[in-house]
Parts: sequence; structure tokens; C-alpha cells
Amino acid sequence: AQVDKGGYKHFMAKEIAEQPTVIGEAISHYLTQDGTDIALPAEIDFTKIDRLTMVACGTAFYACMTAKYWFEQLAQLPVEIDVASEFRYRDPVITKDTAALFVSQSGETADTLAALRYCEGKAEQILSVVNVATSSIARESDVALPILAGTEIGVASTKAFTCQLTVLLILALKAAKDRGTIEDSRYQELLTELRALPGIMNHALTIEAVTEKISRKLAEARDILFLGRGVMYPLAHEGALKLKEISYIHAEAYASGELKHGPIALIDKKVPVVVLAPRDGLFDKTVSNMQEVMARNGKVLLISDSKGLMEGGEGTWEAIAMPDADPVLTPILYAIPAQLLAYHTAVSKGTDVDQPRNLAKSVTVE
Ligand code: G6P
Repeated sequence: AQVDKGGYKHFMAKEIAEQPTVIGEAISHYLTQDGTDIALPAEIDFTKIDRLTMVACGTAFYACMTAKYWFEQLAQLPVEIDVASEFRYRDPVITKDTAALFVSQSGETADTLAALRYCEGKAEQILSVVNVATSSIARESDVALPILAGTEIGVASTKAFTCQLTVLLILALKAAKDRGTIEDSRYQELLTELRALPGIMNHALTIEAVTEKISRKLAEARDILFLGRGVMYPLAHEGALKLKEISYIHAEAYASGELKHGPIALIDKKVPVVVLAPRDGLFDKTVSNMQEVMARNGKVLLISDSKGLMEGGEGTWEAIAMPDADPVLTPILYAIPAQLLAYHTAVSKGTDVDQPRNLAKSVTVE
């Protein structure tokens, strides 16, 4: 069916706004009817493997990078991640106790497909998380899990990213249950939080007005830094990638704690620093890194929940208040400000948001 902009100025805006709905659909697809358990194809059994290798490109790679934290923390499963263009040429060691998981919106990315083929006959099982269920990557996998995001037109991926994260989190929870590494009460609690996520995402979309205002100022910057710790670190990468892709402003992501080993040299009053910091177990550490930036006149945009802004927000340049959520779910939720900042900065600069220069939606050549 022909997809239109549905009253939005750009496909990207429409796709950002659709996220609560499509995530809700993915969640109901992978949970049992009453929502109290996960229902995945029977062939996926995490007691059969001791290692997970995840490979992808672009935004899908940052989904893998986030999922590594989930699989390790929830399921105590060792995870290796790589971008497909490196993975396929570095002679990676894939043993029989490994499941190889490929994440791709299009399911046609040449490097990801080649990485999958490299793992055939080596890995115990080949899994994929795809948007296009009829794609080459889906067809060549032992089990393909659709993310159900619907057609994504904007070249910069948005709803596919959060749907990838949602399916990967469900997989990590399933792995934790299979491997006996999660208490039943915590498992139930996280499923309850997951079912509440579409509502929280809807609430988060109300940050749009303030984000637009801040983006007008970001549009004047030449360089922007994104900082995060733990699960917010991959999201810092995704935020920087989105901004580069559509606004053409140079953006770089750093792990908050790594700032002092180099990029702090870049800080002056012209460089906005976006700090992604929900009030989780690492919040205080991130705030102290943020203060190092402010002590050097860096302009901090703090994105946190209201308690976080109260505790750590003093002296920041700008702030965005997010709804509360379980720390496990925050990468999905905080994708919204990352996407909206890139979107409104690009709109403010007048760039072609849906068709950025030099980029293709699906890269089927090496
Ligand atoms: C291109 C797109 C990106 C996407 C990447 C991987 O670079 O512009 O948005 O993240 O390919 O694509 P895939 O379809 O494999 O997820």
C-alpha cells in the first residue's frame, strides 16, 4: 500500500510519532495474550548456547550495542558485537555454542547479509531481527523475528530502531528466563513495565515543543558532543548519528567516563554537550562528568527525569524533562529526545530531512 505523510511535514516526523503504536504492536505480538509471559518461536532456546554474536550496520548496530548490556545484565550471556563490514573480514571465531544474531531494518544490507553467510555452518543457530519479513536476511536465517514497525520511508531510521530495541529486550528477557538468571518477580515486573511503555512513549512525545526551541540553538553549532554511560552510551552514538545524517552538523558520542581521556580538550563555550542521564545507578557519576564540562564553560543540555533534573540540573544550559521509567527500558524511551533533537535541528537548518545527501535507505552494495 502507498504510504503517505499523514498530515506530517516529513516522513521522519510521522515515523517518530508512530512509535508508541508500533512498539505496542510488537509487544503484543511477542507476549502471551494476558501479557504475563513471552511467546517466541519454540526453536529459540537460550540454554543451548553460551555466547551470542550480534552483527549489524548503522542504527541497527547501535540497537545491538544496547542489547549487549541487556543480554549480559539480565541473562549473564556473553555477547560480542561488531559492525558487519569489519566482522566479515576479520576472521571472527564462531564456535558451535554460539548463536549469531543479525539486525537489519531492510534485511538487504550487503555487509550484514555477507556476515550472516559467513556464520552459516559455524554457529549453532542463525537468528535475525528484521523489519522486512520477506527480505534476504530473514529468508536465510534459521529464525527471523519481525519488528513490525511498518514501512519506514525516512532515510534516518527512527521507529525501526525503537522496535528493534523492543524485540531485542524481549529476547534478552527470554534468555534470562531460560537461563534462570532472573527472579520471577523481576521478570513479571519488567513485563509489566514493557506493557506500560507505549503509554510512557506517548507522554515523552510531549517534549516536542521544548526540543524544537532548543534545536534552533543547536542548529548554530559546528560540533556537538553526546555523552552517556551504561545503556545510555549506545544511545549517545545513535543521537550523534541521527544529527550527522540529517543536519550535517558534526556530532560525536563518548562514554561519559572516557571524556577526560581526550574529548574534554574540545570543550569551550561554543560546543553544546548533550548528556543522556536518567536517574539510574550511574546517574551521580554522569553528573560529575557533566560538571567537568560545565567547569570548562561547556554548554550542557541535560536530558533526565524530573528528579534527575532537580538533583543534577543546576547550572546547565538547557534541560529536557522525561517521564520516569525502569532503568532497563530507558534506551527505548530516550530515543525520542535523540530523534526529535536531530529532526528539529535539521528542520531549522532547512536540510532535506527525509532524503539526506549522500545517504541511501538500504545499502545493497559493499
Ligand atoms: C543505511 C541507512 C541506515 C541504516 C543502515 C543499516 O545506512 O541509511 O538508516 O541504519 O543502512 O540498514 P539496515 O536496513 O540493515 O538496518
